[in-house]
Amino acid sequence: MKLWAGRFSKEADKKTNDFNSSIKTDSRMFNEDIDGSIAHASMLAAQGIITKEDCESILKGLSDIRNDIISGDLLIDPDAEDIHTFIEGELTKRIGSAGKRLHTGRSRNDQVALDIRLYLKRDVPQVTKLVEELIEALDGKAKEYEKAIMPGYTHLQRAQPITFAAHVGAYTQMLQRDLGRFEDALDRMNFSPLGSGALAGTTYPLDRQMTAEALGFYGYTENTLDGVSDRDFCLELLSACSILMVHLSRLCEEVIMWCSWEFKFAELDDAFSTGSSIMPQKKNPDIAELVRGKAGRVFGDLTGLLAVMKGLPLAYNKDMQEDKDAIFDGLDTVKMCLTALTPMIATMRMIPENMRKAAAGGFINATDCADYLVSKGLPFRDAYKATGELVALCIDKKTTLEELPVEEYKKICELFDEGVYEAIRLETCVARRGF
Ligand code: ARG
Repeated sequence: MKLWAGRFSKEADKKTNDFNSSIKTDSRMFNEDIDGSIAHASMLAAQGIITKEDCESILKGLSDIRNDIISGDLLIDPDAEDIHTFIEGELTKRIGSAGKRLHTGRSRNDQVALDIRLYLKRDVPQVTKLVEELIEALDGKAKEYEKAIMPGYTHLQRAQPITFAAHVGAYTQMLQRDLGRFEDALDRMNFSPLGSGALAGTTYPLDRQMTAEALGFYGYTENTLDGVSDRDFCLELLSACSILMVHLSRLCEEVIMWCSWEFKFAELDDAFSTGSSIMPQKKNPDIAELVRGKAGRVFGDLTGLLAVMKGLPLAYNKDMQEDKDAIFDGLDTVKMCLTALTPMIATMRMIPENMRKAAAGGFINATDCADYLVSKGLPFRDAYKATGELVALCIDKKTTLEELPVEEYKKICELFDEGVYEAIRLETCVARRGF
C-alpha cells in the first residue's frame, strides 16, 4: 500500500513502481532518516503537537528498526518507494497509530533534503581524511628523496632543474586547497531544511531551531521553497570532487610517465601494479590509469546533476531524485581512488640517478648560463641571445654546456670565464632558486 493511496484507486503498475523507486540508492541513508525522525518526533512532543506517550513509542520503534536493520533482522524491501516510506511503514506496522503521527508537519521533500545533508555531513569527513593521508604519503616521499634533482618541464620539454620535493610539493598545495573547498561546502550546507514541509512551511507551531540544533546544524534554511528545492550543496561538493580528481589525475599521469622506459624515474611496488596476460615483461601502472579514467566519471556526476537541475521550476520536482545517484557515486569514486592511490604513492620507489641524468640533458641550465652573464653586467636579452648561440653550438658539436671549453664560451661573449661551470652546475641552479 502506498503512502499516497487515499487519492488512488489502483496499485501502481509494477514497472512504473520500479522506475519511480529510489530505494536502491537511498537505503544507505537509513541511519540519517531515523535520526531526522527522532529529532522531528521529539520536537513535535515538546511543542505539544503529539503526546509524550506517542513520542516515546515512536522513538523506541525507530531505535528498534535501526538495530534490526544493522543486525540484518530487518531487510529493506526492494519494492518500497524510498527509504522514508519504508521506515515510516515499518514503524506503523510495529507501533500502530502513533507511527502514523510521525509525519505531522513534515513532507518527504524536507525529509529527503535533510537526510542527504545529514549523510554528507558524515561522509565528506571520510573523504577529507583520505586526502590528508595522501598529503602525508606525498610529504613522506619528498623527505625520502630530499636530495633528488629532476628536470622541471613546460610543454613537456625540459625547462629548468628542480628538486623532486618541489615537484611533489605542488601537489600537496593543490590537495590542501581541495580540503578547503570541502570544508567551505560543508559549512555553507550546514542549515536544516526540516520544517519547510512540501514547499510552503506548515500550519503547525514547529520549533525549527530545536530540530536544527538537535541534528548539529548551525540553524535552519530561512526560505522554505529554497530549503526543499535547491541541491547546490551537492553540486558544490561534486565540483570539489571534480577539482580533486583533476589533481589526482594529473599526478597519476606523471606517475604513468615516470614508470615508462622512456623516463624510468620511478618504479611501482609489485603489490600496486599489474602484469599483462600476453607480454611477460610488462608491469603496468593500472591503479594510476584507473584513477585518471575515473576522473571522467566524477566530472560526469557533476555535469549530469547540473543538467538535471538547470530547468526545474521551484520547488521540488521528481527529477531531483537523481541527485543521490550523482553525489553518492561522486563521493564513493573519490574515496575508492584515494584509498588505492595513497599506498601506491607511499611504496613508489624513485630512481634519482635517472632523474638527475635527465636533468643534465636538454640544456636545462641555459637560463642559469644567461643569468651568469647578467651577473657580469650584460642586459638579459643580450645574455639570452648569447646563450642561445652557445646552445646551438653545443648541438652542432654534439656536446653540453658543461663540457664546452671556456675558449668557445669566450668566442661568443668575452664576459665568460671559468666561473660559468660552477654557475651552471645543477646543484647550484637548484640552490639559487631557493629549493
Ligand atoms: N525519493 C524522493 C527523492 O529522493 C523523496 C521525495 C519524494 N517527494 C515527492 N514529492 N514525491 O527525491
